[in-house]
Amino acid sequence: MMRKWLRGLCVLVFVLAGLAGVAYGQDFKKQVIYQIVTDRFFNGDTSNDNPAQSAGLFDSTQTNWQLYWGGDLAGIQQKMAYLKGLGVTALWISPPVDNINVSIPDSLGNPTASYHGYAARDMKLIEEHFGDVSNTWTAFNNVVSTAHQNGIKVIVDFAPNHTNNNSAGEYGALYDAGTFLASYTNDPSGYFHHNANISDWNDRYQLQYYTLYSLADLNQENSAMDAYLKASVQQLAQHGVDAFRIDAVKHVTWGWEYSLTNALFNSAPSFVFGEWYQGSTSDPLFHDSYKFANKSGMSLLDFPLNTAVRDVFANNAGFSEIDNTLNTENANFAWQNDLVTFVDNHDMARFLSVNNNANRLNEALAFILTCRGIPSLYYGDEQYLHNDTNGGGDPYNRPMMNSWGTATTAYSLIGKLAALRQSSNDALAYGTSLQRWINNDVYIFERQFFNDVVLVAINKNDTTGYSITGLNTALPAGTYSDYLSGLLGGFAVTVVSGTIGNNPVNAFTLPAHTVAVWQITGSAAAPEVGSIGPTVGQPGMQVAIAGKGFGSAAGTVWFGTTAAPILSWSDSQATFTVPSVGNGVYSVQLKNSAGQAANTIQFTVLTAKLIPVTFTVNNATPTNVGDYIFLTGNTVELGNWSTTWDGAVGPMLAPNYPNWFLNASMPAGATIQFKFIKIAANGAVTWENGANHTYTVPASGTGFVNVNWQY
Ligand code: NOJ
Ligand code: NOJ
Repeated sequence: MMRKWLRGLCVLVFVLAGLAGVAYGQDFKKQVIYQIVTDRFFNGDTSNDNPAQSAGLFDSTQTNWQLYWGGDLAGIQQKMAYLKGLGVTALWISPPVDNINVSIPDSLGNPTASYHGYAARDMKLIEEHFGDVSNTWTAFNNVVSTAHQNGIKVIVDFAPNHTNNNSAGEYGALYDAGTFLASYTNDPSGYFHHNANISDWNDRYQLQYYTLYSLADLNQENSAMDAYLKASVQQLAQHGVDAFRIDAVKHVTWGWEYSLTNALFNSAPSFVFGEWYQGSTSDPLFHDSYKFANKSGMSLLDFPLNTAVRDVFANNAGFSEIDNTLNTENANFAWQNDLVTFVDNHDMARFLSVNNNANRLNEALAFILTCRGIPSLYYGDEQYLHNDTNGGGDPYNRPMMNSWGTATTAYSLIGKLAALRQSSNDALAYGTSLQRWINNDVYIFERQFFNDVVLVAINKNDTTGYSITGLNTALPAGTYSDYLSGLLGGFAVTVVSGTIGNNPVNAFTLPAHTVAVWQITGSAAAPEVGSIGPTVGQPGMQVAIAGKGFGSAAGTVWFGTTAAPILSWSDSQATFTVPSVGNGVYSVQLKNSAGQAANTIQFTVLTAKLIPVTFTVNNATPTNVGDYIFLTGNTVELGNWSTTWDGAVGPMLAPNYPNWFLNASMPAGATIQFKFIKIAANGAVTWENGANHTYTVPASGTGFVNVNWQY
């Protein structure tokens, strides 16, 4: 008996020891991301500046902004100490894979090169300007391992929507580790969609199936292309990539992207976030965006908040724009703490080009570093880098990084707030968000995770201070010094009375251009869960739950009455595999070794790994403008017979009305039952008649269903 127990213990110790080196990247909420355009960061290896296979695309004078300037993966590696000193914990690097080898002249006849990485030719090799002239993975492996040695994660930008220009240069040509597959003009197997450029940016069909800016649009429903894209991104994961930024997700087949995300999570622990561009929460596809983020397992870059942050801090909008955006988003995004927030990126004029006011940039950075969501900083913002030519937009928002000092205010600010998020106060990563005081210039908001509280006060006015009266906080009675030690003008405040809850703060004056951060951390009376990652997966997938006060001895994780097999356990994170339970949405519950239960957290158990299936239903009529056909059926992937806009799968697309189609990711090998429904503009639901349709999803590849609406 004893021996058996001992042997079990040894196996457990062995398993836990074996896992100690595994980077569980899924819980990304404590990370601070730093976005790098590799070509414009640092030239660490001059031997790859002007490779023979793509000669002439390099400009050593750095005057043609559309050519390669020499930055490379070795350069990022050589600047790792700078990055570590800055306090960032994850590097988002521009697409590193092999891009087109020739120039495509711009409208004035000037040469341009794909220095940004968004015109791939081979997703299985590394671009020669970034790695070495033989397109090997060596430099990539080196930067990943140096990052990991410094406790920094690597995020790769992956673009599954397209290859390169369809009517010039290499005509979209795509290779598989050097072997030609197809080009836009030589496409016998149907690897590309051959449609016009997108002209209606609110049309769901055009967005997914038309061409984005002449970039040869890939057909993800083709099983060979599906396999190629998944193998390419999995290869990156195998080279140690911790997370992925997926390019242009609004333009890739949405349903297919559920299976892409699932494939990534099946290959390695990861975090996946997509670029779904939208100007605000009033965007006609805002609802589609949060439905996608809530169900696909992929988080999104927070573009609506980006607009609001720039309007408020760079232009002179009042704080209600930020407050309203957060309220709308927080009411709709299930995983709001996973949204990736940012002030600047490579597609918009830098903040300082819009308003050359360093105080305001500091305040905007302080805001996104404390706001809900995972902050992403754009390279050079910590050095106040900007070039204002033509308003500073693309490509002038991608200057060469040219100073590496560690004495700027922004550099210190980022370091302090990254440390608060990463290691000392869980409210930033996991907490709720509450507005406490607002006018046009002042925003005081609070983050809270059980007994951890962070209260942030910002006055962005250039000259006017405000008297702050009637402020309440969750902080308990006491005097709180400014966590930033006055870096942005902060000072101490006193909470008059009370334990954690809703307590009065003594009146104070918040001077012009001030950010103050007051905070407390408490102990956990019971385990506290703040995160699960991924949020969706099938039995057998590895998942991490993170939070506080789990205890050092392994406890349990429950899906209903079924315990999940535990892989590792620490006071702040448990990893496990999804147990063999039926598909559905679960309230997962963690218990410590003494049986004390934590708060529950939602996880969607899929039936099986996901396969993209294209469903067509013919002659689904009549429908009026605003009425849509949806798909619903008998598994969680099909919405469990839901008849709501959010619960059913869709809306379907009707480029050949009255025939409707939609690609949706379905459980591999499962026999599914489904029907099509009409959801009218007023919400009225009409079912098709007859028996349920049935279909057995293929075990691999892609699937197709074609049926008639049953009258
Ligand atoms: C969005 C990227 O961020 C942008 O820089 C790129 O040009 C397009 N997608 C196309 O890949
Ligand atoms: C109503 C549908 O008409 C039927 O076909 C389906 O089986 C059930 N909903 C499932 O509850």
